[in-house]
Amino acid sequence: MQIDKTTLADRGFLDMEIDPSLDIFEEISKLKKEKNAVILAHYYQEPDIQDVADYIGDSLGLAQNAATTDADMIVFAGVHFMAETAKILNPSKKVLLPDLKAGCSLSDSCPPPIFKAFKDKHPEHLVISYINCSAGIKALSDIICTSSNAQLIVESLPKEQKIIFAPDKNLGGYINKKTGRNMVLWNGACMVHEIFSLEKITRLKERHPGAKMIAHPECEENVLALADFIGSTTQLLKYTEKNNADIYIVATESGILHQMQRNAPKKTFIAAPPDNACACNDCPHMKLNTLEKLYLCMKYEQPELLMDEELRLAAKLPIDRMMAISRELGLV
Ligand code: 13P
Ligand code: SF4
Repeated sequence: MQIDKTTLADRGFLDMEIDPSLDIFEEISKLKKEKNAVILAHYYQEPDIQDVADYIGDSLGLAQNAATTDADMIVFAGVHFMAETAKILNPSKKVLLPDLKAGCSLSDSCPPPIFKAFKDKHPEHLVISYINCSAGIKALSDIICTSSNAQLIVESLPKEQKIIFAPDKNLGGYINKKTGRNMVLWNGACMVHEIFSLEKITRLKERHPGAKMIAHPECEENVLALADFIGSTTQLLKYTEKNNADIYIVATESGILHQMQRNAPKKTFIAAPPDNACACNDCPHMKLNTLEKLYLCMKYEQPELLMDEELRLAAKLPIDRMMAISRELGLV
């Protein structure tokens, strides 16, 4: 087992070794029972983490699960904004993130003080923010959305309502196109979904004429234009389960291929190639979490996600509005 000692040392675990003969899967299972802990994991986590998780899902599913769990401890195998959302919804529970440095380029592309100045220039606009943002941005927003419900959340507002959509310009542009709205877009993007090569995807489609090309709406417009289906991670996964094609070219973070392959073992899944020499399109933030860090964080109950109460309450309001609209629309 490779242990990233530098990161562990930074977090106070010092020179901790894990006995190589230890069955980490078994230990995690014991810790779960002992501490009444639940492991929530995003589809972009490494396969081992997905395999020990109690719940694997997209951002909407993870937020819903975090809101209703009766566990005492939430171990969030995802990135910082996701663990923050779990804490916002569950202030009395201990929320752990295996590596506190697991951030998000999209969230980082929208710093709250700069966004506040931008928002102040548009006093008549409501702010809809994609859940991939910091608690500071959530606190400046009117409604949160996820990639599963963004279109319906936008459509739940009157057509004439002026809207700022943040932080993802690609998801915002896609929703503008689908709804015929003209939302003002914050100029943010995800580093993983902006890396796909149009040329290589086109070549793959030619080589596999029967393949379906599927894409996450965080991808750029020219990649989305090639897609047979566009959706959140959960929607992409369901599509590959139900659709008749044998081959899928998947334009999102490659971690999701683990569940796609598990749910449809006879089908072939090809990760859409990025526009560089590297063959991977892993999210470097998501992949900072490892099974070893997950085990250590459960054992020592750190690093823990803590949040200022005033910020938490301000950030909770737009999430509550998303949940209420989702309930009204029968989405949850
Ligand atoms: P969803 O899983 O909600 O589609 O989000 C994708 C993503 O980029 C999460 O970081
Ligand atoms: Fe952020 Fe993109 Fe990584 Fe998701 S895949 S956590 S949006 S950087």
